[in-house]
Amino acid sequence: MNSSNEAWGSRIGLILAMAGNAVGLGNFLRFPTQAANHGGGSFMITYFIALLLLGIPLMWIEWGIGRNGGLYRKGHIPGMFAALWKHPAAKYLGAIGLVIPFIVLTYYTYIESWTLAYTFFSITKGYWGVESQAGMTDFLHAYQGIGSPGMAALWLPFLFFCLTLVINIWVVSKGISGGIEKLAKIGMPILFVFAAVLAVVVLLLPAQPEVGTTAADGLNFIYRPDLSGLGDAGVWLASAGQIFFTLSVGMGSLQTYASYLRKKDDILLSGIATAATNETAEVVLGGTIAIPAAVIFFGVTGVTQIAASGAFNLGFATMPLVFMQLPLGHLLGFMWFGLLFFAGITSSVAMATPIMAFFREEFGFKRERVAWTIGLVVLIAGMMHIRFLEFGFLDEWDYWAGTFGLALFATVEVILFMWVYKPENAWKSIHQGADIQLPRVFKFIMTFVTPAYLIVILLWWGYSEALPILTLVKNPNGGMYSPEVLPYVLLSRAIIVFILITFLILIRVAWKRNGYNDRVGFREVHEDALESESAFPSHQPNR
Ligand code: ALA
Repeated sequence: MNSSNEAWGSRIGLILAMAGNAVGLGNFLRFPTQAANHGGGSFMITYFIALLLLGIPLMWIEWGIGRNGGLYRKGHIPGMFAALWKHPAAKYLGAIGLVIPFIVLTYYTYIESWTLAYTFFSITKGYWGVESQAGMTDFLHAYQGIGSPGMAALWLPFLFFCLTLVINIWVVSKGISGGIEKLAKIGMPILFVFAAVLAVVVLLLPAQPEVGTTAADGLNFIYRPDLSGLGDAGVWLASAGQIFFTLSVGMGSLQTYASYLRKKDDILLSGIATAATNETAEVVLGGTIAIPAAVIFFGVTGVTQIAASGAFNLGFATMPLVFMQLPLGHLLGFMWFGLLFFAGITSSVAMATPIMAFFREEFGFKRERVAWTIGLVVLIAGMMHIRFLEFGFLDEWDYWAGTFGLALFATVEVILFMWVYKPENAWKSIHQGADIQLPRVFKFIMTFVTPAYLIVILLWWGYSEALPILTLVKNPNGGMYSPEVLPYVLLSRAIIVFILITFLILIRVAWKRNGYNDRVGFREVHEDALESESAFPSHQPNR
């Protein structure tokens, strides 16, 4: 069924949207915390190795899988996997590519809503007067309703969550070129300008008399290569996890974006441009703002303690404290949380697209109807996140979908594309319409090194983390589960299983409904049929 004639309007729009998909809260919040928690300079060495051997190859592989699926008008992973592997199991394996983006979408949108709230608190000086790190952490917890006895405390996060969700769904309901591409064209330049201004401000900040450290000490902490942590498995796993999350690989959304490309479109140069934009935002800008700013006011040891005390403390507690001490601090706070909001929303809209594609292409539903229905389900799931945040509900979803799930999904897709579909076909497919020719060493990396690296990570992770977490021996933050959180943890896992089963059933129904034959595969959709709907005239040689 072809009810989804989506296309990108321009190549720059595509790259901005892909970069918007990748650049997110992960770049500005998760990256500094991970780097500080895992030894700064050591983390960066393993990070760049993971970027080269996992991130960039997976980026091309996902663009390849997506564009190949698009030839059959399959913008969702079950269809894309079925297009690569003519076996009945392929589509069910693809369920992982619906579950992960859906789960990440729900909690990610909720965290994104905190950034919108803090943008508002900054411009209205809502947190002005709070003077200590502990005070700001309490302010954050009070906003999140942590430790509050009643539902009444939750109306404010609920309000901002609804607002954030409505904006997301409205953008998604406008379609690929009419909504997502337009958002990226507005949001990405704003984000980069805000980030560049903040980075310059931080670099110009003088040392504080009672602390004595400078921005240079912060930069040194992250960037000075340090071999001492390389023997620590945790550093390798954390950096690989960061690469997945920041590039959005293993999430299902890059593939959906790439499915709206055509055979003649380049994916290699565009893929590397996307990765480069993301890395600039993460390593150059993300690395120059939060850690150096915090080092100036709290010293290197202080920053590692803050990072270890909670995933959001650096961004939501320390940064406001820094801004309050600067001239025009409320504007700087507005820019910091504003850039986080734009980084977040250009990623969260992407997470909705695989699910949109599935319901539109397989059930023929209208775009608006699917978008607002997704919104309703996310609203319900989001309400649980709001209510149960303090019981580790969100941490479970983040671990199983946003950490372990990404590595699992990436392993499955790399095996399907490079092994089942065969290296020769994969190599030819990613070079179709390409503006560059990759050195052949990448074929070797993509065929052998990336899958081997992924399998080692998965096994290592499975043994050292996933198993103990699954058996409730330790929680995703490394601590112990307390008896009072167990019902919430089990509930959160039960819902993940329920979502998985629901998608498996829906896939089965879709295949039956459309009469697909797994052994034969799909019919290729004539590109002209798509192009007539495209914003681009069909005689346009290349975008
Ligand atoms: N890649 C997105 C981020 O970094 C999900 O937040």
